[in-house]
Amino acid sequence: MNIHVASRPAKSRPEDARDAFAADVIAGLTRHPRQLPPKYFYDETGSRLFEQITRLPEYYPTRTELGILRDHGQEIARIMPPHAALIEFGAGATTKARLLLARCKIGAYVPVDISGAFLNGQAAALRADFPDLAVHPVVADFTAPFNLPRAVQDMPKVGFFPGSTIGNFEPHEASAFLRGARDILGEGATLIVGVDLEKDEHVLRAAYNDEAGVTAKFNLNLLRRINRELDGDFDVAAFAHHAVYNREQYRIEMHLVSRTARTVQIMGRGIAFRAGDSIHTESSYKYSVERFQALARGAGWIPGTTWTDPDGMFSVHALLARK
Ligand code: AVJ
Repeated sequence: MNIHVASRPAKSRPEDARDAFAADVIAGLTRHPRQLPPKYFYDETGSRLFEQITRLPEYYPTRTELGILRDHGQEIARIMPPHAALIEFGAGATTKARLLLARCKIGAYVPVDISGAFLNGQAAALRADFPDLAVHPVVADFTAPFNLPRAVQDMPKVGFFPGSTIGNFEPHEASAFLRGARDILGEGATLIVGVDLEKDEHVLRAAYNDEAGVTAKFNLNLLRRINRELDGDFDVAAFAHHAVYNREQYRIEMHLVSRTARTVQIMGRGIAFRAGDSIHTESSYKYSVERFQALARGAGWIPGTTWTDPDGMFSVHALLARK
């Protein structure tokens, strides 16, 4: 199999990944407000917990987006040029891509992910299920520029960024991502983006404070991961999961709040917490259709069709690259 390692090969070396994690953790825990990047949630345990989250009764985004892709599959297929290359940014479980692959005449599928091992498994499964499909995985951090495999360079390009992952970015980062995707995909490209919508605060709060406590486990797993990988000694039971809606900024914020005063050791460094000190672990921005379209317009894209579910919970946007 051809694994295309993009421009920054250092990123895929495990020791460099650990160094980057270590640097981000130390920087994030020694600044104020304390903050850790949400991309570190997804170690093996975190990915498994996230899969559980997607099946929770309170967590509507995943099933709602799948419903939109299913219900509007025909229309979405119509905006796809024939034999296009479908480039998925941060290819997770490929469930959503499979919906498009089953309905559209896609020439090639290019999943882009930081985890090479994970990509290999997904690519093999896809080849088995879609024998005529060319699969060209790219190991890369999709928040930085990378090169598309030569095999797809002359094909029409359709980018795919589902799951409202874009909501994890600060608005200026979301804008930078959209600009970067425009540069990578090129003139004439289409981008399909899943974006969670603003809604009743109770619904939002419940989605991040589930009864079963899976989201709390998912959040706290970040401390366990630091203990495991960075020789940390967090007492995980001494931290509480908090998820609140920040109305001014249209975002759910997840925090880990220290219940007690204590000094935590990470790689031989002491980091002091007072009782009530918080680590901001994730922002999940919610957009109106109009606010997202304005963001896209400012980043080199022309908004096309937007599909939503009947309850207006979630949106899937088709964007066209501006000349
Ligand atoms: C995968 C980033 C879209 O923000 O809703 C789920 C992650 N965090 N529950 C989200 C998440 C807490 C999720 N995204």
